[in-house]
Amino acid sequence: MRYLAGLVMVLILSGCGDEKKEVHYNGAALLKNKCGACHNLKMPPDTYEDEKAPPMMAVVFHLKDFMKIKDDKDKAEKFIPFIQDYTLEPSREKSYCDEASLDTYGLMPSLKGSVTEDELKAIAEYIYNFYNQEKYLKEMQAKAAFYALPKGEQLVRKSGCLNCHDTQKAKVGPSFSMMSDRDPEEIINVIQNGSQGKWEGFRNMLMPPFKNKFTQDELRILQEWIHTLGAKEKVNP
Ligand code: HEC
Ligand code: HEC
Repeated sequence: MRYLAGLVMVLILSGCGDEKKEVHYNGAALLKNKCGACHNLKMPPDTYEDEKAPPMMAVVFHLKDFMKIKDDKDKAEKFIPFIQDYTLEPSREKSYCDEASLDTYGLMPSLKGSVTEDELKAIAEYIYNFYNQEKYLKEMQAKAAFYALPKGEQLVRKSGCLNCHDTQKAKVGPSFSMMSDRDPEEIINVIQNGSQGKWEGFRNMLMPPFKNKFTQDELRILQEWIHTLGAKEKVNP
């Protein structure tokens, strides 16, 4: 037993030793610390009058484009090595930046001494995944589609109303079209103060109050939007 306990100790200790060598790099945190002072890291980036460097999203999108990066093999063989090399030894010759941008920003200073190859590998992995063009386009399209909706529908989507209501079909509560012919003031009153047991066929479910959630203007917008839906379905107890 003692022998076994000793062996376990040795394994634990040597295990600890190994783990210390195997540092876990946090690409997101490193990116922020080592690159965030000059590169805008947001997606989409904020716009400034006098940026110190091109936004990281733009850098990654155009590198993937110019280097014709298609898959993980390209990432490992082209993208990551380029980031490591350029960051430590930037030059106008290596840069994929156009001349005009290079003149505006000036060449990136070498970060030799302040970031290691391993840290750069973690940063490169992270930016490769994070600045993803398809994901970005999808998000932008979803955003555009959302802002194209009527303001009232935007409000119900943002406020969690669709957990219980659908525009057309009865759900936990009546559909918005089912209530479209109700008294406008009562609609506003229920949104503010909640309701229970008024509608048959909804098992006495509670409509929670949204007392201070909406401004008077927003309440009116909600009520008017509900009104535009028209009763397309009858209450079905
Ligand atoms: C002191 C400011 C500064 C810091 C810090 C900085 N950069 Fe840059 N970086 C620039 C400037 C300026 C440019 C644009 C000119 C150029 O391409 O060299 C640039 C351009 C780049 C490019 C584009 C190269 C190309 O061909 O288009 C990459 C890649 C890049 N930076 C990566 C990084 C990474 C990764 C970090 C963090 C580890 C980092 N940078 C930190 C200033 C900085
Ligand atoms: C947790 C579920 C739930 C949520 C979330 C919810 N509702 Fe309701 N809602 C109900 C139920 C159930 C009823 C029926 C209440 C009754 O029978 O008295 C109802 C009724 C209503 C009515 C009734 C109109 C009338 O004249 O009786 C309106 C308007 C309404 N909801 C709007 C909203 C809006 C707008 C939101 C989002 C801000 C919302 N609801 C969020 C469950 C919910």
